[in-house]
Amino acid sequence: MTTKSRFTPQTYRRLAFASLGALLMAPGCDDSKDGSAKAPPKPAAKRTYGEAPAEGAPAGPSVNPEEVQLAAKKLFQPLQDEAKSETNPWSKEKADLGRMLYYETRLSKNHDVSCNTCHDLANFGVDVREVDGKRVKTSEGHKKQFGERNSPTVYNAAFHLAQFWDGRAADVEEQAKGPVLNPVEMAMADEAATVFVLKSIPGYADAFKAAFPDTEDPITYDNMAKAIGAFERKLVTPSKFDAFIGGDASALTDAEAAGLKTFMDVGCTQCHSGALLGGNQFQKLGNVKPWPNVKDEGRFQVTKSAPDKFSFKVPSLRNITKTGPYLHDGSIESLEEMVNKMAEHQLAKGSLTPEETQSIMTFLGTLEGKIDEDYIKKPTLPESGPETPAPDAS
Ligand code: HEC
Ligand code: HEC
Repeated sequence: MTTKSRFTPQTYRRLAFASLGALLMAPGCDDSKDGSAKAPPKPAAKRTYGEAPAEGAPAGPSVNPEEVQLAAKKLFQPLQDEAKSETNPWSKEKADLGRMLYYETRLSKNHDVSCNTCHDLANFGVDVREVDGKRVKTSEGHKKQFGERNSPTVYNAAFHLAQFWDGRAADVEEQAKGPVLNPVEMAMADEAATVFVLKSIPGYADAFKAAFPDTEDPITYDNMAKAIGAFERKLVTPSKFDAFIGGDASALTDAEAAGLKTFMDVGCTQCHSGALLGGNQFQKLGNVKPWPNVKDEGRFQVTKSAPDKFSFKVPSLRNITKTGPYLHDGSIESLEEMVNKMAEHQLAKGSLTPEETQSIMTFLGTLEGKIDEDYIKKPTLPESGPETPAPDAS
């Protein structure tokens, strides 16, 4: 993808640095870290626009971008260029190893599934495989088995308050230990079998040693996860929205700024706020009007606390135009339908006018960010050794 704006990677980097020290989450979002769902949002304030646009005029109300920017700065922050971790500080060697492991199909039983299979880095980190001309709702893993949930994007995920739709892993390092052993994903027998494979590939000895220089026996399951985690911590996709929040009121067109105003006015920001427009709280799907047929109990499976039934991590809206199908089960295909359903089921306001929906859609487009093509480039993977097990389709 390309953003045809005047914002070069340098601009983004400058903005990212300018934002260092800025808080990741919007103030006041921390109170839901215990995972309990919040009360439904209050009705949106009375709106000050709504006249039909004059003929030939661009759709949407006219707004003052500086005013919108001022209001938005209270709710959002620019993306930082790295999701920092104290327990797993980033190093180039770690990220280089993590990148290899991310693309490593030999971490799957049948050597046919890697992280990239379900989280395609060239395609905004989601599963873009298709069945009957449509993107899969949930992902196919080992032996053509399908999981129960939609593959969320790995871009910007390291910033989330927790990993998975239900938040059951604390961070990307803990998360990375899951799929390798998951029988419907990569299906390795256990940690020891995985470490055996890594040790059997001669080229990994040096890569692990470089990434974990102070360790006697660097090839461990934990270090595998740390390397992948470090790699993921710089999978960030700044967009022109960051330039806007970071100070340049002209970074969004008037229609885009108007869309942002609509997004804030109707109350989407009750849940989708912060640097990711999501990722910082759990909320019930259908908190105003029940969502039909939710089978997955979401956060409840982790906390066993009744108010958490059917609550999920509020997804980030970064790159949302590219990461469908939507929701934890991938049940909604079109973004427009998704926006309308959100209004119906999540907002006290209840529904949107077609103009409001279009306006929000225009804004959501500004969240499509820039992928660092060099950073995600698939490296040459080291060759198997004599002990490396053969693919096993059983
Ligand atoms: C067979 C498909 C598949 C494979 C292979 C796979 N994942 Fe996933 N991934 C998923 C699905 C589905 C989820 C959501 C599961 C859930 O929430 O219960 C997920 C969730 C995640 C998340 C959480 C993102 C968020 O927003 O919460 C991250 C990060 C992630 N995977 C990274 C990885 C890494 C790293 C690997 C390789 C070690 C990997 N995945 C392998 C399908 C896959
Ligand atoms: C009360 C909290 C809340 C409000 C308000 C809310 N959302 Fe959401 N939103 C969620 C939750 C929770 C999910 C994920 C639910 C699931 O996966 O089952 C979600 C999912 C989404 C998704 C799909 C994301 C994906 O990756 O699958 C989009 C798009 C979205 N919301 C946009 C909006 C818009 C636009 C508004 C305002 C009209 C809005 N939301 C208002 C909580 C909210």
